[in-house]
Amino acid sequence: MSSERRVRIGVVGLGYWGPNIARNVAENPRAELAWLCDRSADTLAAAAARHPQARTTGSYEELLDDPELDAVAIVTPVSTHYDLAAAALEAGKHVLVEKPLAASSAQAADLIALAAERSLVLLPGHTFLYSPPVLKVKQLLDEGALGEIYFISLSRVNLGLHQPDVSVVWDLAPHDLSILSFWLGGMPTEVSAFSRSCVLPETPDVAFVNLRFGAGVVAHLELSWLSPVKLRRTSIVGSEKMVVYDDTSNEPIRIFDAGAELPTPETFGEFRLTYRTGDIVSPKIAAAEPLALEIDDFCAAILDDTETRSSPRLGFEVVRAVEAIEASLQNGGRPCSTEERAELESAAAGLDRDTLTAARSRAR
Ligand SMILES: NC(=O)c1ccc[n+]([C@@H]2O[C@H](COP(=O)([O-])OP(=O)(O)OC[C@H]3O[C@@H](n4cnc5c(N)ncnc54)[C@H](O)[C@@H]3O)[C@@H](O)[C@H]2O)c1
Repeated sequence: MSSERRVRIGVVGLGYWGPNIARNVAENPRAELAWLCDRSADTLAAAAARHPQARTTGSYEELLDDPELDAVAIVTPVSTHYDLAAAALEAGKHVLVEKPLAASSAQAADLIALAAERSLVLLPGHTFLYSPPVLKVKQLLDEGALGEIYFISLSRVNLGLHQPDVSVVWDLAPHDLSILSFWLGGMPTEVSAFSRSCVLPETPDVAFVNLRFGAGVVAHLELSWLSPVKLRRTSIVGSEKMVVYDDTSNEPIRIFDAGAELPTPETFGEFRLTYRTGDIVSPKIAAAEPLALEIDDFCAAILDDTETRSSPRLGFEVVRAVEAIEASLQNGGRPCSTEERAELESAAAGLDRDTLTAARSRAR
């Protein structure tokens, strides 16, 4: 595809999040907002009023039938991701699918195989990988500025929105899992979790998740749709420095020169800790909108054949980690190893055709 061409994108699902994707596609110089699609006529009409240049339809099939359409962005509930993404890939369209990539790792593996077979781009919408504060923390970690990372605690709580088809874990944990994997270079090896369905029966709306990573880092994740205040706060505690990343603040990153040291004892059996509280630095963070950068990445992958930052493999690993959290929840909070599903991991890597075929038949 010539680099002067624009990617013709159809946005499917224009409820809460879809309008943000549609706006960023419409504003991107390498993209063209070609179609808007939603089953709800009222929702579609509201989006069409904002983007009169785009064609509209309530029928996903009509959109896929357009031979001029290059790609779709799927922004519908999680339970629909697999069917809509598989149909688009089978129709030869590149796919951006909102997080989580699919409702099971078998489905995610199938989508990865479909995209690979057809040489199509499959981008799971892990938006935080494009967030300037998240990138700043990644830079600090890669430079070793915080020293050895001891632990990370994350709070992602607010009032609403209860999702119709998934628990708070499926809705919110993909954000933190994608961020932690990006920062630490891999997924947790073990998870354990507790949750409660406070408002709707059988729909957990609060969860407390513990994560253990290979390098010894431990993390705690607090997720809830029931909170008097919105918190998007992460503390990263290292041996040299500590960072607070608050996504709701206009100073999203604060670096604390703080820590505890254990000087070599002068006599056997004696030790005295010293605590350090030095400067607090708030670095300048670019104001770029993460979704704009995500759409840039999607268009570049299609037009220039580049690798996307939010990769299909990451999408698969996030789903697998959420499944491990679910398994722990169903086992009364018992720790669950995320490495137990090595079979599907090799399927995701496209290494083993037989395993892939088995995963695909399970997904269907
Ligand atoms: N990346 C982020 O930060 C972020 C934030 C919010 C939501 N999301 C994700 O976006 C997705 C949508 O979430 P939401 O909160 O916008 O949901 P929503 O329920 O508000 O909107 C979904 C829309 O999809 C439409 N729809 C459903 N099935 C359809 C179909 N087959 N064809 C056409 N339209 C269909 C519905 O009519 C509705 O308008 C979810 O996967 C969610 O996880 C991502």
